[in-house]
Amino acid sequence: MTHIRKAVFPVAGMGTRFLPATKSIPKEMLPLVDRPLIQYAVDEARAAGIEEFIFITAAGKGALEDYFDTAAALEQRLAMNGKTDALAALDRTRMSEGSLAFVRQNNPLGLGHAVRLAQRLVGDEPFAVLLPDDVIRSPQGALGQMVDAHAKHRGHMVATMDVPLAATSSYGILDVAQTTGRLSQARGLVEKPGPARAPSTSAVIGRYILEPSIFERLANLGPGAGGELQLTDAINADVETAGVNGYRFDGERFDCGSVQGFVQATVAFALDRPELHGDLSAFLDTCTAPARQVA
Ligand code: UTP
Repeated sequence: MTHIRKAVFPVAGMGTRFLPATKSIPKEMLPLVDRPLIQYAVDEARAAGIEEFIFITAAGKGALEDYFDTAAALEQRLAMNGKTDALAALDRTRMSEGSLAFVRQNNPLGLGHAVRLAQRLVGDEPFAVLLPDDVIRSPQGALGQMVDAHAKHRGHMVATMDVPLAATSSYGILDVAQTTGRLSQARGLVEKPGPARAPSTSAVIGRYILEPSIFERLANLGPGAGGELQLTDAINADVETAGVNGYRFDGERFDCGSVQGFVQATVAFALDRPELHGDLSAFLDTCTAPARQVA
């Protein structure tokens, strides 16, 4: 039994970096090998002991709800035809009854706004936030590691990874007060600082454990960078009272919100599959030709 029972999955973003693919399907349904992105995030949350799954969705995201529903006709047909492997592949999509909730974000006002919409369902307890764009390859799962750490070190917790100094302007960066092992006590977060302004090279990625006090901060928040309600601003506003720790998880993160990261993740996760590994690595060895212009 974990003290973190609920997880919020903000999936209301427009996914513009994946147009035209995301014109008619949600980004979170793009398949990494043979599972949609959202499945990786849900599996990680389940492994961390999460029991309630709260999706913040938007218009055009209906495929996500259908994905976690039963597909009676398909399942019947597979059973009738003895396709037991195909049926077993659906096991991951089965969620316990009543464990899923969907909240509509009518306006994409930012990640902070999306998280705020989960307030009534989360209530007065610490909870997790997972951004499914960030896919993490790790035996224990990043969220599970954080839940263990959070049991000992309360306050807000953000997942961090070390990045090159030249890359700090692409991330929220932790202003570190003190580091012990994987845990860094922080004075706050700085949004996308250039190398000269970066207080560290600890970058925040899309896994959080938040104390319920975040909701009051979010309620009183004005628009931040890009005119959006920023989760980072709310965490910063709560540092003095709740505290914030960075947790340097053990694992490799892929930014599947970008085409480059998605392609790399596809190769990495396919190489992890014993049935694909041999052929794929032999094929990759042949891919040394210079880039061709493809229309
Ligand atoms: P991104 O900044 O990656 O935006 O959001 P996006 O719309 O998903 O993708 P691009 O940049 O247009 O390609 C980070 C996370 O916050 C969620 C997104 O769904 C994603 O999981 N989000 C963002 C919301 O749920 N609502 C918002 O208003 C904004």
